[in-house]
Amino acid sequence: MKKFIYLFIFLPIIVLSQNTSDDTFNSGRQEVLLKEGWKFFKGDHYNFSQGSYDDKDWESVSIPHDWAIKGPFDKKYDLQQVAIFQDGEKVPTEKSGRTGALPYIGTGWYRKNITIENSLSEKKVLLQFDGAMSEAQVYINGQKVGEHPYGYAYFFFDITKFLKEGDNLLAVRLHNQPKSSRWYPGAGIYRNVHLITTNKDAFQQWGTTITTPFISQKKAEVDVTSELEGDIDQVNYIISTADGEIVSEGASSLKFGNTINTQLSVENPQLWSPESPYLYTIKLTAFRQGQAVDQIEKTFGIREIKYTAERGFELNGQQRKFKGVCLHHDLGPLGIAINRAALKRQLVMMKNMGADAIRTAHNMPSIEQMELCDELGLMVIAESFDEWKKPKVKNGYHRFFDDWAAIDVKNLVRRLKNHPSIVMWSAGNEVPDQYGSEGVKRALWLQNIFHEEDPTRPVTVGMDQVKAVMESGFGAILDIPGLNYRTHLYQEAYEKFPQGYLLGSETASTVSSRGVYKFPVKEYKKKKYSDFQSSSYDYEACPWSNIPEDDFILQDDQPWVLGEFVWTGFDYLGEPSPYNEEWPSRSSYFGICDLAGIPKDRYYLYKSRWNTEEETLHILPHWNWEGREGETTPVFVYTNYNTAELFINGVSQGKRTKDVTSRLDRYRLRWMDVKYEAGTVKVVAYDDNGQAVAEKEIKTAGQPHHLKLEADRSILSADGEDLSYVTVSVVDKEGNFCPTANIPLSFKVKGATDYKVVCNGDATSLEMFHEPTMKTFNGKLVVTLQSQDIAGKGILEVKGKGLKTAQIEIKVKEQPTL
Ligand code: GAL
Repeated sequence: MKKFIYLFIFLPIIVLSQNTSDDTFNSGRQEVLLKEGWKFFKGDHYNFSQGSYDDKDWESVSIPHDWAIKGPFDKKYDLQQVAIFQDGEKVPTEKSGRTGALPYIGTGWYRKNITIENSLSEKKVLLQFDGAMSEAQVYINGQKVGEHPYGYAYFFFDITKFLKEGDNLLAVRLHNQPKSSRWYPGAGIYRNVHLITTNKDAFQQWGTTITTPFISQKKAEVDVTSELEGDIDQVNYIISTADGEIVSEGASSLKFGNTINTQLSVENPQLWSPESPYLYTIKLTAFRQGQAVDQIEKTFGIREIKYTAERGFELNGQQRKFKGVCLHHDLGPLGIAINRAALKRQLVMMKNMGADAIRTAHNMPSIEQMELCDELGLMVIAESFDEWKKPKVKNGYHRFFDDWAAIDVKNLVRRLKNHPSIVMWSAGNEVPDQYGSEGVKRALWLQNIFHEEDPTRPVTVGMDQVKAVMESGFGAILDIPGLNYRTHLYQEAYEKFPQGYLLGSETASTVSSRGVYKFPVKEYKKKKYSDFQSSSYDYEACPWSNIPEDDFILQDDQPWVLGEFVWTGFDYLGEPSPYNEEWPSRSSYFGICDLAGIPKDRYYLYKSRWNTEEETLHILPHWNWEGREGETTPVFVYTNYNTAELFINGVSQGKRTKDVTSRLDRYRLRWMDVKYEAGTVKVVAYDDNGQAVAEKEIKTAGQPHHLKLEADRSILSADGEDLSYVTVSVVDKEGNFCPTANIPLSFKVKGATDYKVVCNGDATSLEMFHEPTMKTFNGKLVVTLQSQDIAGKGILEVKGKGLKTAQIEIKVKEQPTL
């Protein structure tokens, strides 16, 4: 165990001339992430908060940490005998994989030593949690510092008075109740913990707000307001470009109470947008009687958002509709422990699909995810709650709503408000408070808190009880009425609500399993099969949900729809509808990508529509149907071209053209009568002048012969956290993908990378992610390697019975590569 040493450098306060900028100024502020040197115990004893308790047998862990992800999967965890009201159920039944069938319930303790080497008499020390799952109680040297129940919330404590010179014991107790979630919530200190030391005269934590109230091509106004602690009389400001060029400077001593404000101007500003996510940096230095006492730095973007009945949503004066996806907080096989590389992989995949927005369903996102959205150019609806005062699950957030909702919302906004990517707040998702007048008041109350903290962004709520919210006025008082599904009620809601627009805050919820195709090919609601999989013909949904076309039509035909947020970008742990009652089934089927992050067919349907820069020409199903010879095996093509011709073994099956008058032929090209025969499926796409412009071919594969390994990133940083995702595909002798191969594989990793996890995307698999063995699911799985903190090369070796052993090399370099 590395012992964490916290060094207090006694800082002689440097006297700076108030008008100079000085990059070398050591501000008296120090921020350390408490990652290493933690001990963890699953169990409970009040003595655990005390230094006297011996923890030498506790597990050594580093933060971020998810104590439940190593399983094992077992239906006994959080087995729920419930009727899911939101799904229209009336009679309770056994729901086995609802929260992922992983051991997240119970109490866990974390402890860590903090050594203070100098006097704290002139200092203030804050301990900040970006998220701890859940019901956190924090102790220092056996004394309770405070508590914070909501597992997704950000919070901090001033711990100065609890600390002493020398060793200090930080102890954190977490407790997860059964029936406290509708999905896998995870368990543990799964986001970063910060130890922040400042002078007593300092910028307030999360107290600086940067907005851009005026923007033109020539000039932008940057308004900066800081809340201050102690006795600060002046703040200096420097704005720099991404390349470090200073573009604006200023100073202010205009104080009202404990806030100080200024306006700066940036000439010829580069605006932030998904297409050009330009970020500026602002450095603020605080002075007390001519002495610099604190310094902070923030990134921000210059951009303007507007929502009007006339023009819908505009970013920087340009009308656009959200091409969004909802994302849950888990990272598939990594569980909920945040990892920047894993988050980036997800977001980059969504971006490449053409998405320009995400909704953080149904809670506060990680800070790292917001930083990445700023950098990559993804707009964000940052959400807060899945429950208000009325319960959805027995031990959900309703237990805390009265005491904590205002605090949690304030912390959300104060912590995230400077991220240009955030274009809307969400006060809740399908809260049962949609019914009745109390709920309307509650909605208004929460919306007002958002407004007080941030008057620049509107607030939405994802509503599923559309008839009720039309009646009660709930929908009418929201800045942005968000509809979850209920496409048949959009028109009526648009007419009844006063805003003049609607948002598809949650759409589709089509279900599919990667590489699984069922016959006959028909539209179904709540269709179940004996293998607990759903068909990738993308025609299956839940009773409340729909296939993608139903949203596309509204988006395309109704100017007053602001856009959509598809449920979901990736499969997530828990909520295995339509197999909530079947075991084993422990993760969702809703994802555009599976739990391993491998695109399902639907990825290409969205890409064909959203990514207008790249060609999409995707054929489904696969063509290995031994035993179906002569049987009807429809072929779909997802493409951005309007017309294409299909050939089976060189024989034309005719041309198809997208038909705007037909619900099912408007966005996909379909050949419904194809008879299966082994061989080649080829599609030729035509442009609107009838010229053949692109083609694609898939073949019936022979016997599995060897493995193909493809890394998403072959160079990692030597930071002990970076990840490479290696997709392993089973192929035949000629290299054709074997789409039905379910072959047990084993993995060995050597050198400068460690084996992290594996995932095959099968929602019914009970193999554990951290074990170095797993069966391929429909020919594929993904192995994740993690860099060590030394440079070098890592090698992954993959073995499977009867297959040639395969290897791939990953370089690990000193410099950042992410
Ligand atoms: C919605 C809900 C989501 C998820 C989804 C599944 O009603 O907001 O959290 O449960 O249904 O279709």
